[in-house]
Amino acid sequence: MKRLSLRHPMLLAAFTGIVFIISCNKFKNTPISSAEVDTNIPQYFAGADETFNAQIHLGRVLFYDKNLSVNNSISCASCHKQALAFADNTAFSTGFENRLTKRNSMAIQNITSPMISIEGSPLFWDGREPDLNSLIAKPIANHIEMGITDFDQLLKKLNSLSYYRPILDKAYGTGSTLSLEGMSTAMTQFILMFQTLHSRFDEAQVGSGSLNALEVRGRLLFNTTYNCVSCHNPMPGMYQSSGFHNIGLESSIQDKGRMDVTGNSSDEGLFRAPDLHNVALTAPYMHDGRFNSLDEVLNHYSHGIQENKNLSHVLRNDDGSALK
Ligand code: HEC
Ligand code: HEC
Repeated sequence: MKRLSLRHPMLLAAFTGIVFIISCNKFKNTPISSAEVDTNIPQYFAGADETFNAQIHLGRVLFYDKNLSVNNSISCASCHKQALAFADNTAFSTGFENRLTKRNSMAIQNITSPMISIEGSPLFWDGREPDLNSLIAKPIANHIEMGITDFDQLLKKLNSLSYYRPILDKAYGTGSTLSLEGMSTAMTQFILMFQTLHSRFDEAQVGSGSLNALEVRGRLLFNTTYNCVSCHNPMPGMYQSSGFHNIGLESSIQDKGRMDVTGNSSDEGLFRAPDLHNVALTAPYMHDGRFNSLDEVLNHYSHGIQENKNLSHVLRNDDGSALK
């Protein structure tokens, strides 16, 4: 990677432009709260049968239901806000007892398969979860996020809520009750629908849209000059394959990141490179939400990279020193 100098305003504009247009996309669903649960099952996919639609719908209602937390205060959507590409607009999110999460809430998008390990980097910032189905129970049981220690009791509570009855009948058969497996399957089906494939960047990549001159310049910088694309692959199906890297946020690493999973010191301070779709909506940035704007992110790559033993070789000069 060449030394990145973004002090020139035109260059910064071109760059912010391309990062921004990767991002422009809108989600079709409208959020619902548990107070206004919709028991009419919409058609989520043309041609999908009623059972499948009902499972997706069940996942959607569960995603917005605060009853999934031990004190009925927090839903998945409290931290994963649809209007923000299912991310949160704060460095650390607030859990059921007003305590803060240890990392920044991730945007949930473009997960192409429940078994993500087959297709690319596993889930969470440190990749500790290879399977979306089994991820679902983790935030529910997390002592900061939703605080459930007894799943039988949670399922009893949910099964007693009348609005689940008609949805469950259609999703899993008349008279069926909600199980942990049924809940995970339904939420997985819902989350797999968070696909953003039609940003202006995507359209231009497949030749069905065009970019203005400044954006073309930004794309060149992103794809070629600064090789951002080597870690942030924006192509459909490749979002999750970007791997784990250290980008030199700090010289003395605070959060071990990937090392917590592998135990290897060469993974200390490595994090998953996020998919940059919708990035204009997902501030603050990085695993600890340290940057409030894209300008701050670009300033980091331009002249903020800190030396540490695991800094990616892509972000080093030919003589091995950190790009700065
Ligand atoms: C209190 C805030 C909070 C709540 C509630 C919450 N999450 Fe999260 N979520 C996070 C944080 C923080 C991360 C990143 C954690 C990490 O990497 O260590 C995350 C990560 C994720 C990811 C990983 C995305 C990826 O691309 O790797 C998924 C999927 C997810 N959450 C789904 C859910 C679901 C489903 C629920 C509800 C059952 C939920 N979350 C509830 C804060 C929350
Ligand atoms: C060596 C791999 C690598 C390269 C090259 C790279 N990035 Fe990153 N990028 C990452 C990783 C890893 C993260 C998350 C780091 C963390 O949170 O500790 C990240 C985070 C980001 C974020 C924040 C995303 C979010 O949701 O928080 C943006 C924006 C970004 N990079 C843009 C760029 C741009 C623009 C370039 C080119 C100038 C670039 N990146 C080059 C690996 C890379």
